[in-house]
Amino acid sequence: MSSVAIPESLSAKFRDTFAFKTISERLPVILTKAIDTTSRQIKHLVDSGIVGTDHRSEAEQEMKDSIGRLAKLRNEMQTDKPFIDIVSDAPDVKIYNQCLEDYKKQFGSEPKWFECEWLYAECYMYRRVREAFEVTKFVNSFDPFNESKEHALKSSIKACEVLAKFITTISSEDNMDIKSLFIRFIEVSLWGNKCDLSLSAGADANNFTNPTDDLVDLRQYIVANQIDELWQYVKRTSAKHSFQLSIVLDNSGFELFTDLILAEFLSVSGLLKDQSVIRWYVKSIPWFVSDVMTKDFHWLLDYLADDSKSHSNQIKQLAKKWKNNLETKKWLIIDDYFWTLPYDFSHMNVVSPNLYQSLNESDLILFKGDLNYRKLAGDLNWDYSVPFKTALRGFLPTTICTLRTIKADVVVGIEDKQMLQRIKTFAKDWREIGEYAVIQMAQK
Ligand code: F6P
Ligand code: MG
Repeated sequence: MSSVAIPESLSAKFRDTFAFKTISERLPVILTKAIDTTSRQIKHLVDSGIVGTDHRSEAEQEMKDSIGRLAKLRNEMQTDKPFIDIVSDAPDVKIYNQCLEDYKKQFGSEPKWFECEWLYAECYMYRRVREAFEVTKFVNSFDPFNESKEHALKSSIKACEVLAKFITTISSEDNMDIKSLFIRFIEVSLWGNKCDLSLSAGADANNFTNPTDDLVDLRQYIVANQIDELWQYVKRTSAKHSFQLSIVLDNSGFELFTDLILAEFLSVSGLLKDQSVIRWYVKSIPWFVSDVMTKDFHWLLDYLADDSKSHSNQIKQLAKKWKNNLETKKWLIIDDYFWTLPYDFSHMNVVSPNLYQSLNESDLILFKGDLNYRKLAGDLNWDYSVPFKTALRGFLPTTICTLRTIKADVVVGIEDKQMLQRIKTFAKDWREIGEYAVIQMAQK
């Protein structure tokens, strides 16, 4: 690791930044939407199977209490109140509360929204959202973002059909141009990350009309692109032994579908062998609005495989095949609470050594999305030209690759001088809008 000085953390204390805009404007909107969804769902608890008729009134009261907790959280944030302990027996809560103690020891007072690290504040908010329901008896499993996650898939079904047709057609062809298809499907999964719901505060984020044709035009927006190195690495490694892949997922809905399509391509192309296993890492609590939890993964497959729905047969066949991959354990869905701690990934080998070890068993980890990137690079105020591997500060359980559309300030690994010049001509908010992207890797 090079001895580059570690820069300051991004924080809402810097007023002219996206961190400030997020905590002052965007997160209160997300909480308001969570409150609205929760209150709308109060009358549907029985129909949606969350509670039986016997406990309807207790559950309705609990939902109202949860709304009260969410409103209190929003008020604490907007008035910059100090963080408080989370009250629950869940194993990650000890760690959250310990972080608060450590902060007090280090800085002499509790963390506050507009003072502490942005990453800490944003993770803490989503952990408090979970607490709002976790402390109840009957609505414990309620996910206030569930409705928007399901909607995100349903509203992008046409784009999913295009992709399903494409992969089904090429799977039946004898002479696949594996390299160019590899690039194509990596790009599909990359741009699928444009569709996260925290950026749009829950509004539709499906911009693709034709997800396979639009990609070439989009290449100019990839400001650091190591796809050739990625291809060389995958080709070389898969020629040696059965490739083991981990994918640290980001968002549900269309993005997850693009990740599944990528996995399908890797298997039909022979890059993944019959003995290859894919480990899909998901979140254990509702997270950054649209992140995939185990239930979201299953819901998506069940929905797509449902013969009574009007989407294409190709989608249904793929979804059935993917369900089978889970049944036969070719695919494993793994949730680990490390992913929803406020730590960046440089802490993983100390905080969650078992997770670090298990990631080490893969040949490659694909990290999807913006938040994973922030956690890879520590959400620090790096210079753009700092090498990606340096920004990882020692985190390298195995070879890693990040597929991220840029929706937050931290960007590293732009070593090309011309690109550094070009960036100077971009609009001021170029790192906030999800229009630019990176494909970066660090080899073990
Ligand atoms: O818009 C910014 C943001 O909410 C960030 O806080 C976060 O890093 C990102 O969006 C979530 O995006 P993704 O789903 O790609 O991780
Ligand atoms: Mg996300």
